[in-house]
Parts: sequence; structure tokens; C-alpha cells
Amino acid sequence: MKKKLIITGASGFLGYHLLRTAAVDWEIFGITNSKDFDFPNSMPIRCDIRNYIELGNFVDDIEPDAIIHAAAISDANFCENNKELSYDINVEATKNLAGICCDYHIPFAFTSTDLVFDGQQGGYKEDASKNSLSVYGEQKSVAEEEVLRIYPEASVFRLPLMFGEPTASPGNYLQKFVSQIRNDEKASLFFDEYRSIGGARSIAEGILKLLGQRGIIHLAGKNKLSRYEFGLKAAKAFELDESLLHSCSQKDVKMAAPRPADVSLDISKAVSLGFAPLSVDDELKLIADKTYF
Ligand SMILES: NC(=O)c1ccc[n+]([C@@H]2O[C@H](COP(=O)([O-])OP(=O)(O)OC[C@H]3O[C@@H](n4cnc5c(N)ncnc54)[C@H](OP(=O)(O)O)[C@@H]3O)[C@@H](O)[C@H]2O)c1
Repeated sequence: MKKKLIITGASGFLGYHLLRTAAVDWEIFGITNSKDFDFPNSMPIRCDIRNYIELGNFVDDIEPDAIIHAAAISDANFCENNKELSYDINVEATKNLAGICCDYHIPFAFTSTDLVFDGQQGGYKEDASKNSLSVYGEQKSVAEEEVLRIYPEASVFRLPLMFGEPTASPGNYLQKFVSQIRNDEKASLFFDEYRSIGGARSIAEGILKLLGQRGIIHLAGKNKLSRYEFGLKAAKAFELDESLLHSCSQKDVKMAAPRPADVSLDISKAVSLGFAPLSVDDELKLIADKTYF
């Protein structure tokens, strides 16, 4: 019999890749808020994770062997303008889930972000000083600390900007970018924002492999890339017209949430534990060739 895994945020972008990756070895219960999904070996459950009682009842009924928490308000601009609502989901609900996993003494994986850093330095290791520029990054930073205070055996995975299956979620930036260029529209991408951009399948595999490791672990792509450099790689993989790619500065676009310059992550700790992400080029090619899953 397969072990049982609860994945929150199962209808989200990372949730999609976690479901596709985990369904081989686990029986999955995917918590969603407003959407459903239909995958083999996976049962969708609607629950607003702010409802502690309902969430606790689901966990009592399922008796999971582990929980991966990928539900969040992940839109940094939305968090900037909706601080209380996003705090309830990004921090309070996360604390509750950590407490539930501590009570059951089962592995708990919290998905955090590279945006806990201010981007002045880049190449951040797990113990580097945090200093988020945005409300979203600050909420994730508080949630990280609360998770490890409540349940020191939990895993906190700091993740980068991710790309993956274009159909995984409607707002997916790879999908937007590809369809823009295919429609002969110019696409503007920042040359001055560096991230360790990572493929969501590699990241999902990393989370599943390292589930149960204690403390903070960086899971990201092997190299740092600007969004513009990533766009060039994507254009190559999808055989798009590169001349429609336009490099622009963060300063050219007004956004509610301030953005850091370089939040690239050092992944040597994860690699020493067995994390083996594909290169961005290889992962993009699998997606473009429709052989990702
Ligand atoms: N995507 C990235 O590049 C990236 C980068 C770094 C870190 N992360 C982190 O990775 C995790 C997953 O991100 P993502 O990009 O997959 O996010 P996403 O696509 O925006 O999905 C968010 C998920 O959270 C669920 N959710 C939101 N509010 C909820 C509530 N009140 N109750 C229950 N579920 C709720 C949504 O459910 P419904 O859709 O059903 O409403 C959805 O499944 C997050 O922790 C995020 O901070 C993501």
C-alpha cells in the first residue's frame, strides 16, 4: 500500500508539478481552495486553509504520512496591497499546519522563497542574513521562523523563480511569453533581475527527495540568470523569433512590490544531499518537446 501525502496548493503551479511527480510513489490528497484537478492517484479536497478546524478534521480523517505545504498567496504585488489577507494565509495558516504536523510527528515541508533576501549580494547560502524588500518576502520570512520554532524537525525549502509545464496554471509566465512571441508581439524582460531560475519538475523532485530533512534548504537551478537571459534560452528551446525579445530594466516597469537585483541561491547543501536538477536548457527542451511528464 502506498503512503499518504497531503499537498496544499495542489491546484497551483508548483502543486501541478508535485502531483505529477509524487503520484508514482504516493497516494495523494490535494488541498485546493477554488479550483479542482483531475490526476491519477490523487484526490482533490476543497478547504480554505485558514479554517483550522476543517483542516484539522481532514488531516485526522486522512492520517497522512507527510504534508507538503505549497498553498500561498504567491503574487507579491497582491500581498503588497492586501497585507492582512495574505498574512492569514502565508503566515497564520502555515503556523497551524506546522503545529498539526508536529502533533502527528510527520514530515512537514514548507515552500518559501528567494525573496526573503534583499538581492544586494547574490549567491545566498542558507544561513545568510535575510532582509526582504516586499511584504510577500517578509511574510515568508516570518513563516519560515515560525515553522522552525513550532516544529524544529520541519523542512523549509527556499525556492527560486520557477518555470514548468505551460498548462500548469493560467498566469504562468513561460506560457505568456511563448504565446506573446508566437502572436508576433514584443516581449520585454528584465536584464537586471537575477534569480537561480529553476525547472518546477526538478524542484518538485528535490522536495520529494529531501522531505524529512530538518531546517532550511535551498532548491534552485544550477546557475543564476537574468529574466532576459532566460527568455533567450526559452526562445531557443521553443524555436521563437528572438528579435521580438526586448531587454528592459526593472526601473522601466512600475510595480507595487519592490524587486531585488540578485537573489540567486547557493544550492550546494541540497546537492550534497542528493538534489540533482536538470540544466535550464535540458528542462526547457523537454517542455518544448512535450516530453516533460
Ligand atoms: N512559482 C514560483 O516561481 C515560486 C517561487 C518561489 C516560491 N514559491 C512558493 O511555492 C509555493 C507554490 O507557489 P505557486 O507558484 O504554485 O503558487 P500558485 O500557483 O499561486 O498557487 C497557489 C495555491 O495556493 C492555494 N491557495 C491560496 N489561498 C488558499 C486558501 N486560503 N486555502 C487553500 N488554498 C489556498 C491556491 O488554491 P486555488 O487555486 O484552488 O484557489 C493554489 O493552489 C508557494 O509557497 C510560493 O510562495 C513559488
